[in-house]
Amino acid sequence: MVKRPNALNEATVDARLMRRFPLFIDMLAAANRRVPKRIAGYLLGGADTEIGLAETCAAFARIRLVPRYGIDVSQRSTAVELFGRTYAAPIGVAPVGYASAIWPGSEQALAAAAQAANVPYVNSTFAIEPLESIKRYAPDVAWFQIYYFQSMDTTLALVKRAQRAGYHVLVLTIDIPTYSKRTRDHRNGLQFPPVLTPALLAEVAMTPLWAAEFLKRRYPLPGNLMPYARDPSGGEAALRELLGTTGVYAMTWDEVRAVRKAWPGKLVIKGIQHVADAEAAVALGADGIIVSNHGGRQFDAAPAPIDSLPAIAEAIGTRATVMMDSGVRSGLDVTKALVRGAECCFAGRPFIAACAAAGNQGAAYAMALFQDEITTAFGQLGACGVRDLLRDRTREAT
Ligand SMILES: Cc1cc2nc3c(=O)[nH]c(=O)nc-3n(C[C@H](O)[C@H](O)[C@H](O)COP(=O)(O)O)c2cc1C
Repeated sequence: MVKRPNALNEATVDARLMRRFPLFIDMLAAANRRVPKRIAGYLLGGADTEIGLAETCAAFARIRLVPRYGIDVSQRSTAVELFGRTYAAPIGVAPVGYASAIWPGSEQALAAAAQAANVPYVNSTFAIEPLESIKRYAPDVAWFQIYYFQSMDTTLALVKRAQRAGYHVLVLTIDIPTYSKRTRDHRNGLQFPPVLTPALLAEVAMTPLWAAEFLKRRYPLPGNLMPYARDPSGGEAALRELLGTTGVYAMTWDEVRAVRKAWPGKLVIKGIQHVADAEAAVALGADGIIVSNHGGRQFDAAPAPIDSLPAIAEAIGTRATVMMDSGVRSGLDVTKALVRGAECCFAGRPFIAACAAAGNQGAAYAMALFQDEITTAFGQLGACGVRDLLRDRTREAT
């Protein structure tokens, strides 16, 4: 007999938060109000005119999926297997630098919620919380993201640290070969570390909840990187010196090859947008890629990753795990990405915004909301699992 499932899984989705924030875009709007203006600009902004950022999201809205009915969908599962481990849903937390400076405590909250929800959590090179500590919050689901930092020696030292801490997936981001103009940061006068000016104080005064959370914790410094500062003070001066030594965080393919040699675990290359680059990643031994335009933050002319995805999945999808991020704003967007060939999606701004909108309980809510929306979309499409949809472009209305 067919069991009739409820539309909303009341057991996992917090009904009170659902009333306040039924959509992720509601949480993005709330985050914009609840964190100081220049920090909200850092979270929500994109490169140059932000036309690329708008297009990254708009491309999802253009995709129409055709429902299928008359199928028993009472036993639906969103589980997905990635690199030998089974996760509860094909959605993970993208690496976000300084996340705990955007919303205090969000890194610990998201790592712990990801562990509880059994979805991947990617710890950024530029996280506040050191990788060793994140591994304690998320022992089974934490991945580590690496940039080129300072020199190949420092970069490989970070890789070794990730190995020692027990990470099994390393995400290497290659899409910052040059500085990009983050227009909101210029307009808002964002500096890191921040300089205390009357304008900054006025912004903080407008966001008392953020200020209260900020004051509860130690000053947010990038925990993974502070050991490599030459200034031994460990304070703001050290941070200024540390960040002053860099600016370019991308590797060449030769340097990626050196990381591949040094890292025995699974290697994922993040920031791929061209079929030839996807092929290059596979050729040097990458186990997976993340099709991404860095959430529209790097190159204003870049195409929407959801549009670049099908050709890349077609080319390498049988040889490596293809994943994507940028512009994912719902479980329905995740479902569209599955149809276009991604085995898993990641979201950056939506998860941090959830913490800013609802406090750190927003972390668990965001994961439950994604899962509920994915399950609902599967039901409409007559799909009982990820494999029913993956790379099935006949699902798209033409
Ligand atoms: C505030 C912010 C900081 C980010 N920092 C990093 C980072 O340190 N490393 C990285 O690989 N990607 C970083 N990204 C990019 C995200 O991992 C991801 O590609 C992007 O956020 C996806 O787009 P979405 O925000 O629309 O989901 C950052 C994104 C944002 C919004």
